[in-house]
Amino acid sequence: MNKNFLWGSSISGGQCEGGFESRSETVVDIIPQGKETRFQYLNEPDHYLERPIDFYPSQKGVEFYENYQEDIALFAKMGLKALRFSILWSRIYLDDTDEPHEAGLQFYDNVINELLKYHIEPIITTIHFDMPLWIVQKYNGFSNRKVVELYQRYIQTIVYRYHDRVKYWISFCEINVMNSALYMVGGTVLQPHQDREAVLHQCAYHKLLANALFVKTCHEIDTSLRVGCEVAGTPCYPFTSSPLDYQLMMENERKNNRYTDVMVKGIYPYYFQKEMLDYGIKMFEDDLKILKENPLDFIAVSYYKSSLATHTGMKDNPCLDKTAFGWTIDPLGFRLMLNQMYERYEIPIMVVENGLGTYDKVEEGQIHDNYRINYLKEHIEQMKLAIQDGVNVIGYLTWSAMDVVSTSEGLMSKRYGFIYVDRNDDGSGTLKRIPKDSFYWYQKLIREESQDE
Ligand code: BG6
Repeated sequence: MNKNFLWGSSISGGQCEGGFESRSETVVDIIPQGKETRFQYLNEPDHYLERPIDFYPSQKGVEFYENYQEDIALFAKMGLKALRFSILWSRIYLDDTDEPHEAGLQFYDNVINELLKYHIEPIITTIHFDMPLWIVQKYNGFSNRKVVELYQRYIQTIVYRYHDRVKYWISFCEINVMNSALYMVGGTVLQPHQDREAVLHQCAYHKLLANALFVKTCHEIDTSLRVGCEVAGTPCYPFTSSPLDYQLMMENERKNNRYTDVMVKGIYPYYFQKEMLDYGIKMFEDDLKILKENPLDFIAVSYYKSSLATHTGMKDNPCLDKTAFGWTIDPLGFRLMLNQMYERYEIPIMVVENGLGTYDKVEEGQIHDNYRINYLKEHIEQMKLAIQDGVNVIGYLTWSAMDVVSTSEGLMSKRYGFIYVDRNDDGSGTLKRIPKDSFYWYQKLIREESQDE
């Protein structure tokens, strides 16, 4: 592997930090636990503001805010060369004033400096499903163009502050999963009279503009910065040879690729432009110029599973195993996805999430997670094959460095980390950190990969 290859891992502020008292609230802070409740909440916005439930797992996370030094020391022990984390906007701007919150900025100074102390490359995501609540309440998130301005103010502050120590920047987490969680991803609450698709397209328009302005800002502040945006990479197979399945597959792929098309090619592809017009979204010449002039430097991609296109209803892929949470396990899909993505865009790709979320058992103080090692091993093998195919992959960051609150269920028991965190679904536990078997396996892998240099 190339000597600059970034072997690392990822976490996000809303899932790990906690430190709730020293910042304002974000959308994830008031989403309860449990897949059904969580998604019901996502569809019934009034509940967010009423707060009929008193346990919200993200408010505490796994207390990275208090424990970041201990955690980063463990990441260093594992040998990570890079850590991707996210800044909580709600820690930097507590409300709608122009003054950033110095204590919040200082916290991320500390995190960055601590990482650099161990020669771990910090990689920052500016929004990982964590729109500040005051922006949701006052402006209704990215459905409102005003939020593009607020985002610019936020990114100017953080990029100015950290650009001398942080080279890689990622605007949004999984910009292309907007469909499933408008509130979480767009910070937008759908009003009863509104058409969901029209609002979604308006949010997408504003987020894509915000992304291009982010690229512009980063490059204006420091030409050596490298800027990406994360998309979820989910290859889709046709279930049968029926042209109808193929057609569905194509539509699905377009939904996945449309954001990347705009961010890399700098233009709306014809099918996305048509959708925008159909939903009555106004596209301004000046905005389109900004998109054209500010393409991404690299694509950040997450990969967990593949999907299946079937016109006869949902089906599991009979060729693939599934995790305990029903996600398909498809290492070859990873290689295919990387090839498809590189073929289409031909710019560097950084894998910023890949991992297995499942239950772990502590046995005499140890966690023997061979299933996770196997999952990662198989995926890394396929990534290496993709690199041999010619794909320019610049880094591989697993999800996640340590156990954190899961996004889709809000559960602690759906664990992805190399480091076990003793926290239960009901919030109880000592928060003690225990390296799993996978911790030592990844440590060895990084050491060996580095010796090849
Ligand atoms: C990604 C998100 O989509 O998937 C992470 O960026 C998330 O925030 C990860 O944790 C795994 O998903 P989940 O729902 O199992 O936590």
